[in-house]
Amino acid sequence: MASSFTVCRLHTIGRGSLVKCLQKAIHFFTGILEQTLLLCKKKRMDSNLCMLSRQRDKNRQRDLNTFFYESYGMYAVVEFANQESVASLLEGTAIPSISHESLVPFKSRLLSMRNLASVDLPNQPSGKKRQAQTSIPINELIQRLSKEESIDQQITSLTEAYQLTEENYRLRYLVCSLLKDIAAGFFPECTIMPFGSSVNGFGKLGCDLDMFLDLDGISGKNATMPKSGLFLEYQMKRANLERIVTQNILSVIGECVDQFGPGCVGVQKILNARCPLVRFAHQPSGFQCDLTANNRVAMKSTELLYLYGELDPRVRHLVFTVRCWARAHSITSSIPGAWISNFSLTVMVLFFLQRRSPPIIPTLNHLRDLAVTFFPLFKIKSRGQESVIEDNDCTFVSDFSKIRLESNTETLEQLLCEFFEFYASFCFRTLSINIRKGKEQNKPEVAPLHIQNPFETTLNVSKNVNASQVDRFVALCQESSWLIQQNITAPSEVVLKERLPSHLGSIYLLLPSQVAAIKSPQRRKFEPASERIKSLLESLKNTNKQQKSKLNSL
Ligand code: GTP
Ligand code: MG
Repeated sequence: MASSFTVCRLHTIGRGSLVKCLQKAIHFFTGILEQTLLLCKKKRMDSNLCMLSRQRDKNRQRDLNTFFYESYGMYAVVEFANQESVASLLEGTAIPSISHESLVPFKSRLLSMRNLASVDLPNQPSGKKRQAQTSIPINELIQRLSKEESIDQQITSLTEAYQLTEENYRLRYLVCSLLKDIAAGFFPECTIMPFGSSVNGFGKLGCDLDMFLDLDGISGKNATMPKSGLFLEYQMKRANLERIVTQNILSVIGECVDQFGPGCVGVQKILNARCPLVRFAHQPSGFQCDLTANNRVAMKSTELLYLYGELDPRVRHLVFTVRCWARAHSITSSIPGAWISNFSLTVMVLFFLQRRSPPIIPTLNHLRDLAVTFFPLFKIKSRGQESVIEDNDCTFVSDFSKIRLESNTETLEQLLCEFFEFYASFCFRTLSINIRKGKEQNKPEVAPLHIQNPFETTLNVSKNVNASQVDRFVALCQESSWLIQQNITAPSEVVLKERLPSHLGSIYLLLPSQVAAIKSPQRRKFEPASERIKSLLESLKNTNKQQKSKLNSL
């Protein structure tokens, strides 16, 4: 099924012809398209299957066989129901004829449509809407949020505006399958799967595409040896360490991506990282891609995050809002550095939700216990669902129906405010965040921020973060909590007259300019509270005015 996707680049002249000819082909196969797709996802990952089936009902009525988008030109993604259709299309596809350059003779499923001016075609692709593959600008978001009546609705609306669309998921799978075509030259049985925010439910439009080259099927790890007699085995090259094998494979695949992959640019081989990877930009999709291999624990973290996000809708909403807030204030960044990563931030939100009373989500240890059945009579545990990767216990329940949630009725507004309060006073100096136990632990090592890796429990997920980033995070939490409370509980005599319209409260959290005035928490602590309130309100009013005039001029 992997090769039953095609991306076509549509040149300005003649994009209509592709639309017409491919749409005909598509309509022919519409009946079995959905079924084929489901099979394809099922092979990949259970959680992806859940995700797809969640979307499926919504999309039953929609024509999802083709969609259009822009990325360095106009593109169409066309899905076929079977590989034969793609093969027959490729058979009739010409090799470009060029005179001043040379071609790398690697054929992919990225096609260009040209019109030799003999066919009269409409300029627009049969009225099809272009599907945006990047998130909406902050100004537009603010405009959209300001129409909502409560902070709860704003938070929901923010998630809807930023989350990955069905088309974007499809584009991500397509890029994986195009990469697989390259890797399959050496490893025909390999698969390439997306992980991280592309599939964990917390992905924002425009987030990077993390890919995992899975060679376990041919690694010999799961091989069963015959007990006696003659047998044949492959002669294979050997290396001292698995890490070296991974580095060598990624180095070669990275080279192929660089030399042969149409639209793959800026290839960097980052092979000495803890998790070796090849990073590149895939121009036809617009994705920044990270290709890793032998990274099963990250696949498990992805599944775990997906599971938590599905348990209660408030989890995804809160994670989206906190991620958006953190990005607006440069707490997180797309450039690697001493920042808090989105993954760390998500774990912090999960930990906070485990600490509510009653907890909104269970601990990882509880999810582990649910996966392992205990038979008291025999004092044994059933090992059916146990998953151990490189000596790390990665077991947790995958059957949602076994998970009983407590009845916590807090609103999103309360939770957002409490989140900021919680981390504004969290003792980062001595305590570690631990979602396995759902309780803070004493730090096992010196680090400004310690978040225990959920599966590789001796590791710190936020080892890269420096002290000044933690200080900034805490200061922002203090200020944000204060800002929200102005709209919830501020004593009327202090701020009522100058109070912000209450429904605009959360919007201010997303305005970076608010925080420019909050850079130095130590200094501000000593200012009289009334002065602080006055100056902040002043700055809020100014920003409000600026924002209004900006929005009006849009
Ligand atoms: P964005 O790409 O920022 O949207 O979020 P992301 O969740 O995809 O994060 P990132 O691309 O940095 O990492 C991809 C995935 O790798 C994460 O979702 C985790 O599953 C995993 N991961 C990242 N960092 C760590 C880490 O320090 N430890 C572990 N165990 N897994 C990590
Ligand atoms: Mg990512």
